[in-house]
Amino acid sequence: MSYPLASRMSGVKPSFVREVLKVAVRKDIISFAGGLPAPELFDVEGIRQAAIDAFEQNPQATLQYGPTDGYDVLKNHLIDIMASRGAPGLSAENLIVTTGSQQAIDVIAKILVDPGDVVLVERPAYLAAVQVFEIYQAELRGIEIDADGLNPDDLEQQLQALQAEGRRAKFIYTVATFGNPSGATLSLERRKKLLELAVKYQVLVIEDDPYSELRFSGETLPPLVGLTSVVDGSSEWVCYFSTLSKFVAPGLRLGWMLLPEGLVQPVTIAKQAADLHTSTFAQHVAARYLETGRLQAQLPKIRSTYGAKGHAMIAALEAHFPAGMLEFNKPDGGMFLWAKMAAGVDTMSMVQKAVDNGVIYVPGVPFFPGDIKHNYLRLSFATPSTEQIEEGVKRLARAVLD
Ligand SMILES: Cc1ncc(COP(=O)(O)O)c(C=O)c1O
Repeated sequence: MSYPLASRMSGVKPSFVREVLKVAVRKDIISFAGGLPAPELFDVEGIRQAAIDAFEQNPQATLQYGPTDGYDVLKNHLIDIMASRGAPGLSAENLIVTTGSQQAIDVIAKILVDPGDVVLVERPAYLAAVQVFEIYQAELRGIEIDADGLNPDDLEQQLQALQAEGRRAKFIYTVATFGNPSGATLSLERRKKLLELAVKYQVLVIEDDPYSELRFSGETLPPLVGLTSVVDGSSEWVCYFSTLSKFVAPGLRLGWMLLPEGLVQPVTIAKQAADLHTSTFAQHVAARYLETGRLQAQLPKIRSTYGAKGHAMIAALEAHFPAGMLEFNKPDGGMFLWAKMAAGVDTMSMVQKAVDNGVIYVPGVPFFPGDIKHNYLRLSFATPSTEQIEEGVKRLARAVLD
């Protein structure tokens, strides 16, 4: 049956990652495809106890409707997390709890993007954000990135080109720390430059930060929202999104947004229209969990486990691929390696061969808005064990070299 879908759905392709994940659940396949957190790192006992405590302490409130912007106790814990990330002194009034950070992406696009508006994204970009912006019929333009994150010169050129066309981008969307899929992290110097450009060209910057807690080497960098005091006027131009998904549990579906004052009300109205508020139950459990201090004990374990897995993948790639065949970044955290093969290799058509050899990855193609590159692949080291990583890379090498 062909249903008369809204025109906004016309340019939207099914998520390739979701399609790939259907194969990835097969027991005989080692998956480097998903961005699923390692299940052995869920603090099952701590979250179970927090759920019991939430019920015992305040069962009615845990089951009742709540305010759209979120449960105040949880909001204050999230403000404390912001301070620990290098953004002290933020107000809970500017924080809205969301149903995962994915909802934050959807809501911001909903209130800002009219069909045909320009949205600037990194190239490669987070797939599910691209999907959201496409549903709102944005015109996507890509900004080049390298190991130090998005290239400010390319960004400025694009902003100037827009100015010359008499247009303004609605916003710039960036995963500045341990990018998905790039693994790249925006340097401190570039963070400041990005804020300067935001002020100069009066364009909002949206920093989406699911991964910064997963740092296993290098120095912590403050989020953009923690640097607004060093760039005059920039606090009006920065939004920040994050989530409990990658360091507590994605099943809670809890994220948050920090917004400049003028966006708080439109975002609240749009979120209210979407779901009234994020699950009260999940918010009470999370608030209780964050109160116990168990996370502080859990975080070093999470970081060292991802560090071990990331290093196992790097070592296996270096051991099993001939030098120069596969170039890849060495991220300081997060969940992904972004690898490049020789020009002319098509990683999309290589997927079947990989599956036949018992391993799967995500080809780079869907991550490129506009000008597509065919010779990239995203490898996630988060979910498999170090032994599976070694075996999976062996299988991948077999698939490529055969
Ligand atoms: C860059 C980025 N943003 C947002 C999300 C969505 O996360 P959640 O909705 O679980 O918070 C993800 C998940 O993989 C992601 O990689």
